[in-house]
Amino acid sequence: MANNPGSGVSLDTMQPKDIFDFHAWFSGRFTSLLHFRGGTFYQALMLAVARNAKNIVETGTLRVAGNGASDGQSTRLFAEFAERYDCKLWTCDVDPAAIALARDETAPFASRVEYVVSDSVAFLREFREPIDLLYLDSMDFKEEDPGPPQDHALREGQAALHALHTQSIVLVDDCGLKHGGKGGKVIPFFLGQGWQVIGMHYQALMTHAFDSMGKVVPDALAP
Ligand SMILES: C[S@@+](CC[C@H](N)C(=O)[O-])C[C@H]1O[C@@H](n2cnc3c(N)ncnc32)[C@H](O)[C@@H]1O
Repeated sequence: MANNPGSGVSLDTMQPKDIFDFHAWFSGRFTSLLHFRGGTFYQALMLAVARNAKNIVETGTLRVAGNGASDGQSTRLFAEFAERYDCKLWTCDVDPAAIALARDETAPFASRVEYVVSDSVAFLREFREPIDLLYLDSMDFKEEDPGPPQDHALREGQAALHALHTQSIVLVDDCGLKHGGKGGKVIPFFLGQGWQVIGMHYQALMTHAFDSMGKVVPDALAP
């Protein structure tokens, strides 16, 4: 991913023109489609451009066409981003019908996408490439029974940790809800691993923390 892993944002790869191009593309194609998720998706993907992200992994696939206000349309967004920025997307869902629909919705970009039918924790545990951008949006959150989706998201974070690195970006959906939503347990887990929350609206955006000397936090992870 980044051309200089562990040393902070690779701003040398991003010029003012790149920022404008990203802004024009995202605003024109996705701002209205993504509704209240737009701001954090924008922030995550702008950072992905700056860090030259190549491998995007999402759990929880687009299952309803055009349903940006409720579910989000993440697979369309990531697949089109992958085409534009020369990346690969893995989208994982336990429901074959969701994967079939996502395959139809992203057909123009199919060469960029691996469509995976699996439980997301098992999939992440076995994932063998570095993950530059991880999006967690699988088990539905219910305010009256927050435990199962929070436990599942925690297990996803734990299962993905081996593939994450100091320049990775993690975005968790459905956090701006009672009990912290899907992020109620996985966010504290990442904080305990030296990560920080850098964006919080309906979704939570996290990156690795660095100290004032640019050293990765905690020290134990430093080379
Ligand atoms: C909220 S939807 C994902 C919406 C999608 N990210 C979007 O933006 O349109 C949640 C999806 O997670 C899937 N899911 C639920 N439990 C899962 C599990 N254990 N492993 C993988 N996917 C799961 C569901 O089948 C469903 O399609």
